[in-house]
Amino acid sequence: MTRRLALVGLGPGDPELVTVEAARVLNEVDYFLVADKTASHPGTADLIAMREAICERHVAGEWTLVPVPDPERDRDDPGDYAGAVRDWHEARAQAFERALLEHPGDAAILVWGDPALYDSAIRLADRIVERGVVDVTVEVIPGLSSVQLLAARHRLVLNVIGGPITITTGRRLVDDAVDHDNLVVMLDGALACRDLPDPAAWHIWWGANLGSPGEQLVAGRLPEVAGDIWERRSAVQADQGWVMDTYLLRRV
Ligand SMILES: C[S@@+](CC[C@H](N)C(=O)[O-])C[C@H]1O[C@@H](n2cnc3c(N)ncnc32)[C@H](O)[C@@H]1O
Repeated sequence: MTRRLALVGLGPGDPELVTVEAARVLNEVDYFLVADKTASHPGTADLIAMREAICERHVAGEWTLVPVPDPERDRDDPGDYAGAVRDWHEARAQAFERALLEHPGDAAILVWGDPALYDSAIRLADRIVERGVVDVTVEVIPGLSSVQLLAARHRLVLNVIGGPITITTGRRLVDDAVDHDNLVVMLDGALACRDLPDPAAWHIWWGANLGSPGEQLVAGRLPEVAGDIWERRSAVQADQGWVMDTYLLRRV
């Protein structure tokens, strides 16, 4: 019989930010799957604990969370980044497939933020379907993304009137900033905005660990606040064991 595999966006951490639809689906399935990166990144145990707090808050009665150990990505070959990512996706699909085979019934994969934004759960589920080893119907339940929470916390409209907004990564920022004036930056462990050639030309609205007790917010002209942001980023990492930050950069 075809089983249900729901990819449920849980929002960026705060149980208050879980949608009514996500809470309903969590109550309909038999168990939850979550990628477990604690072997390689011990600080991420807190991220699993936050998902558990969400289940505790929104699921009636007993619930089961099945951690799926995340395979290591081969980082030794920077020349074949695409190949390393492909192999990692395949190993992940097999790991989730094994968990689905071991645990009968309908499942939900707990996704951080929204599954449509810099998340591999949809590709993972597509690959599981393609492999054809387990018979599942995939559904996607949207969640609030960290970008939306950043905008709300700073009382920001992400676009200037009638203008575009570019969402990019720390790795691409310096190149993308050449011909974009209004960018959201994610996945930036190095605060790449400090490498922009013209820092005085930018205003930044930054947020770290949004929706968690350690939440940090800073806004201002980039050269004036970059040092403060880096210090707070390091302090949050030390205090909470993990840090995730997102920021909007706009050319002044
Ligand atoms: C793998 S992506 C996942 C994004 C997620 N799907 C979303 O919708 O927000 C991880 C990146 O999202 C951002 N992020 C996720 N949660 C965050 C949070 N609570 N506070 C600030 N940024 C966050 C950071 O840029 C982080 O590097």
